[in-house]
Amino acid sequence: MIPHHKALFEPIILGKLRLANRVVLAPTYVGMGDLRGNVTDQSLCYYFARASGGVGLVIVEITGVTARYAFNPGYGLGAGSDKHLAGLRDLAQVIHWGGAKALIQLLPGQGAQALQSYENRPLVGPSDVPAPLPQEELPENLKDLLHRKPAQPRPLTREEIQGLKFSVVQAAGRAKKAGFDGVELHGAHGYLLGQFTSPYFNHRHDEYGGSPEKRWNLSRDMVQEIKKEMGPDFLVGYRFSAREYIPGGLDLPESIPMARAIQEAGADYLSVSHGCYGSLARIFPRGEGSMSEDAAAIQKNVSLPVMAPNFQDPGKAAEAITAGSISLVALSRALLADPLWPKKVKGGRPEKIQRCIRCYRCVRAAIVDYSPVRCPVNPGLGFERFDPRFHPRPR
Ligand SMILES: Cc1cc2nc3c(=O)[nH]c(=O)nc-3n(C[C@H](O)[C@H](O)[C@H](O)COP(=O)(O)O)c2cc1C
Ligand code: SF4
Repeated sequence: MIPHHKALFEPIILGKLRLANRVVLAPTYVGMGDLRGNVTDQSLCYYFARASGGVGLVIVEITGVTARYAFNPGYGLGAGSDKHLAGLRDLAQVIHWGGAKALIQLLPGQGAQALQSYENRPLVGPSDVPAPLPQEELPENLKDLLHRKPAQPRPLTREEIQGLKFSVVQAAGRAKKAGFDGVELHGAHGYLLGQFTSPYFNHRHDEYGGSPEKRWNLSRDMVQEIKKEMGPDFLVGYRFSAREYIPGGLDLPESIPMARAIQEAGADYLSVSHGCYGSLARIFPRGEGSMSEDAAAIQKNVSLPVMAPNFQDPGKAAEAITAGSISLVALSRALLADPLWPKKVKGGRPEKIQRCIRCYRCVRAAIVDYSPVRCPVNPGLGFERFDPRFHPRPR
């Protein structure tokens, strides 16, 4: 191994879970489930490829906890029904066989960013504020998003909010039953939970809005309730956008105390991201390390491990850890383009990495076409089930 990459391969404890290294598969929608949100054989081979490629932790993609509200149709995963359990069991198993720990990212809802009602399910949010569309220049492959006409959501009632908390805890229970080591709550990227924390989206005047502290209540409650119901050994992480990059949106001066509040609620780690649909390119930056400075500011203010995405060059990723800016690196596109990134770095062959060229085709599949992701750099992506190297087997 090249000596200055060593920091990536130091073990770390998250909650009560020991990870073999600091390299994480960031939650990444890949559209390999079936139309009812079930895990497929392709999902199993895709995740086994990343786990056996050498990451210490796999965070399974955005996973719905209820189909009650509007959502963008696609081939994502669900944990909202006991019918999802069989597939989730297999998924946790193959990730463990691959040698990584396994978390699943729970999505309370897409909120106003579902953009339109689907199958007459209500479009909901904390308030009746429609999602803004991006004002900044978009990569060519994402420009079709500008043709959408965001609809006005209906504010969730207090009873519905209680129901949502119940659904989240139930889904976490299924993840635990299935053998996952924990869950990550998706409070980032302007989806429903993030909308509750956002001064742009949340204009409520009850216990869930009216002051920053009240806007954090839903997230705090969810963390606390999962911890209480699942016990201290079951990991709970929280992902949020430290800045939403929309006028009047969540910004660093507020997201730092929010991070502390989520820590106090009992979270085991924090995952710092950026942006929402109104600032789309900030979620998936063209460059590298774009979130590290904010993640470092958060890390200075909490005692929990903090992770951040947006790395591709192993040197830069290792430097962020060595400098103490963050504790873990979460790779998304780097691992779509090359599942063997960690093994190649550990084996001292970083020059062999198939590098992501930022063509945004995968992002288009995830948020414009709602279809399975494909990648020109890695023609095997989406076809792992035909590659014997990626057929799950016990270690
Ligand atoms: C195709 C695709 C799907 C994504 N799906 C999710 C998701 O399910 N949940 C999430 O929190 N972030 C999601 N993201 C964002 C990534 O986790 C990550 O934060 C972002 O891509 C920046 O990191 P990168 O430069 O390593 O790609 C997705 C990104 C891509 C490219
Ligand atoms: S090369 Fe294109 S499709 Fe592949 S991971 Fe990068 S942005 Fe996504």
